[in-house]
Amino acid sequence: MSVVGDQQLLREILMREIETIHRYQEMLQRAADDDLQRFLAHALQEEKEHVAEAIQILRRLDPMQARALDEDHSDHFRAGGPGDRALSELLGRAGPPPASKPAASAEPEAAAESADVPPFGAVRPGSDLSARTVGSLRQES
Ligand SMILES: [Fe+2]
Repeated sequence: MSVVGDQQLLREILMREIETIHRYQEMLQRAADDDLQRFLAHALQEEKEHVAEAIQILRRLDPMQARALDEDHSDHFRAGGPGDRALSELLGRAGPPPASKPAASAEPEAAAESADVPPFGAVRPGSDLSARTVGSLRQES
């Protein structure tokens, strides 16, 4: 089998392992028996280890993926970042202006503060966070 074939196999494995984690988490929430809860918690831990192991092999076989995993992507979903603007567009509201090249000392948070519209997900005084859903956030915008 080729390296690309092995990469595809690993991604298929990852999909199945992650789906299994999701199912075990759901089952754990539904389980009432203590032994069953412990069994599911143990199975969940093992599935997470399988994800880590598959990623470890994928990193070796796919250097581009390894670099992507090593990079810091947190600026993509910070307030005022590309993810914030894309989400604003999806929700049909004005978002922060496109990021211009910030001054060397400017922080991403400072750019978000200058926008007319608060960043998506910004907490407004008196907001009940437990009641927030995508629908309620749409209504706020
Ligand atoms: Fe597994």
